[in-house]
Amino acid sequence: MSVTATPLSQADNAPLTGVDAVVLVGGQGTRLRPLTLSAPKPMLPTAGVPFMTHLFSRIKAAGINHVVLGTSYKAEVFSDYFGDGSKLGLEIEYVIEEEPLGTGGGIRNVASKLRERDVMVFNGDILSGVDLRSVVHTHRSSEADVTLHLVKVEDPRAFGCVPTDADGRVQAFLEKTENPPTDQINAGCYVFKREVLEAIPTGRPVSVERETFPGLLEAGRRLQGHVDTSYWLDLGTPAAFVKGSADLVRGIAPTSALPGPVGESLVLDAAQVAEDATLSGGSTIGAGCVVGAGSTVEAGVLFDGARVASDVVIERSIIGAGAVIEAGAVLKDVVIGDGAVVGSRCELLGGLRVWPGVALPTAGVRFSADG
Ligand code: GDD
Ligand code: MG
Repeated sequence: MSVTATPLSQADNAPLTGVDAVVLVGGQGTRLRPLTLSAPKPMLPTAGVPFMTHLFSRIKAAGINHVVLGTSYKAEVFSDYFGDGSKLGLEIEYVIEEEPLGTGGGIRNVASKLRERDVMVFNGDILSGVDLRSVVHTHRSSEADVTLHLVKVEDPRAFGCVPTDADGRVQAFLEKTENPPTDQINAGCYVFKREVLEAIPTGRPVSVERETFPGLLEAGRRLQGHVDTSYWLDLGTPAAFVKGSADLVRGIAPTSALPGPVGESLVLDAAQVAEDATLSGGSTIGAGCVVGAGSTVEAGVLFDGARVASDVVIERSIIGAGAVIEAGAVLKDVVIGDGAVVGSRCELLGGLRVWPGVALPTAGVRFSADG
């Protein structure tokens, strides 16, 4: 059986039935600090809306209406924003882990809310173009216990490495290994038979990657791979977050939740951009932001209320809510926390992070010696 291009019959284009969705959103988003100090990673504004909105739009488009969020870190931020989901045409339920239960524990913990025979589980930080119907089709036609969406990446070491045999059957699951045997990795989307999910132990942390999948393989259960070559990105790092947001704005990454037309930039309500400022590379200018004369923003993500003075250069950087960037500052590949102030002529490069509320004085931090 081919797993890469399992053809869909006409009937398979119909809305998915018999499937609940579960989204894991309990992680702390450590690699995106300091932005994740105030909001969990899946709630960070990405191309103008919380990242979850894009994922929900894809779940809804596949015809799944019932979604359960497995929350822990800053759980209330999700329910305060999305409520019962009715505005999105979804029924959203929330389950809170008082202590984080890990990915497997988080999946098991929502079992009492499930209604259908199959469960589609999503990591909450993945931007992907995979056809969800075809993943379910692979699952059902191969009679798998669990089906894993798999993609090929250049450097598999930061992911779960998942070799498969000629029939697409998973041979091993090797989470974050230094010497991965293949470039094929776990893309963070699974279909579980409900009874297999219910067999995950309760009451203690469980890693689906380090415990559940290896354990199922050892027990001889069928884990099937669904290899896909469409758009895929884990938004876990600042560089990936910037890329994902820019790809959504430019229409490279799929969504039906973009709050404006596809283009080189997305400017939200009540933002003021000077006539000779240049916005490019899929930049987002949040609501109420100001971008001053002569400034350039290339693949920048400006959260709501950020203020950029004149002659500022921003490239591939995230500017937190209400942050102030003073005249002539240069920011490339950096993260500026909410409400921070970057003084005039500062030059911040290469992965630097400014914590919320910190004020850098005029020319106070520079990379070059000629400031
Ligand atoms: N409910 C709950 N409880 N969710 C959690 C917990 C927890 O204790 N810990 C993590 N999560 C959620 C995160 O919020 C995120 O949405 C998802 O689980 C994955 O966590 P990450 O921290 O983003 O993991 P990763 O990116 O290092 O690795 C995972 O994703 C890769 C694909 O991007 C693994 O699944 C890898 O195998 C995979 O290749
Ligand atoms: Mg991740």
